[in-house]
Amino acid sequence: MARIANGCEEWGFFQLVNHGIPEELLERVKKVCSEFYKLEREEGFKDSRPIRLLNELVEKKSGEKLENVDWEDVITLVDDNEWPSKTPGFKETMAEYRKELKKLAEKVMEVMDENLGLPKGYIKKAFNDGEGDNAFFGTKVSHYPPCPHSELLNGLRAHTDAGGVILLFQDDKVKGLQILKDGEWIDVQPLPNSIVINTGDQIEVLSNGKYKSVLHRVMTSPDGNRRSIASFYNPPLKATIAPAPQLVEKANQDDLEIVQAYPKFVFGDYMSVYAEQKFLPKEPRFHAVGAM
Ligand code: OGA
Ligand code: NI
Repeated sequence: MARIANGCEEWGFFQLVNHGIPEELLERVKKVCSEFYKLEREEGFKDSRPIRLLNELVEKKSGEKLENVDWEDVITLVDDNEWPSKTPGFKETMAEYRKELKKLAEKVMEVMDENLGLPKGYIKKAFNDGEGDNAFFGTKVSHYPPCPHSELLNGLRAHTDAGGVILLFQDDKVKGLQILKDGEWIDVQPLPNSIVINTGDQIEVLSNGKYKSVLHRVMTSPDGNRRSIASFYNPPLKATIAPAPQLVEKANQDDLEIVQAYPKFVFGDYMSVYAEQKFLPKEPRFHAVGAM
């Protein structure tokens, strides 16, 4: 618990081992995702926007970098969209994986509840609009193919995550994910079959800033196709999000100047702001949604 608290407070990221997800399932996930990329995505990436823009830039020989595109192939799985069906076992395996990961997210949120001194189930309830089971749980299946000019663009530009808790199953070998810590970019070293957890903007708000959502990015590399599968446990768009009163009161008792550091807002409004400002600093997003 203490180590998780330290990860949340000091880093915004930590790697979870002994998470209880069967190794056998993780092995199958790796297999079907790699097959899925080969069979259903690789060809399409060859005439994708990042390839076109990179080729244009290289022809121009201007020495500029590409600042407005990511070298990433991505699809997002949620319960009610249509899933790719050509790759044998993909749908079934990913459905099983998502079920496990959602349970793990809820377990991790309970640890955060306790570490923050909140009642057990507080965060889950906040992300389920107070009751029921309507959190938004999505899974991004991403690949970062080898890039012939990795100095000219990122795999994914620096950003913080908009939502709640993010659980990332990254490649065993090909690194690329970096987080910003005290002004320096630090590699998140691949640790086979671990799950990388990070806290998004809504956890920052709920915790009244005790847990920050941290800037991260993915670098490209000239060799190796990096696979990463990010699952996010977010509130539904209609949920109201605000700092937990317990954490605001605590600040009061300790005579701190900052009482409530974040506004109260509707998550859907936050997402409208985020859609426009994902790759910009996060603070203005909190101001903008607070003024809505
Ligand atoms: C993201 C993200 C990191 C990765 O999807 O928001 O940061 O390693 N992904 O793919
Ligand atoms: Ni991210």
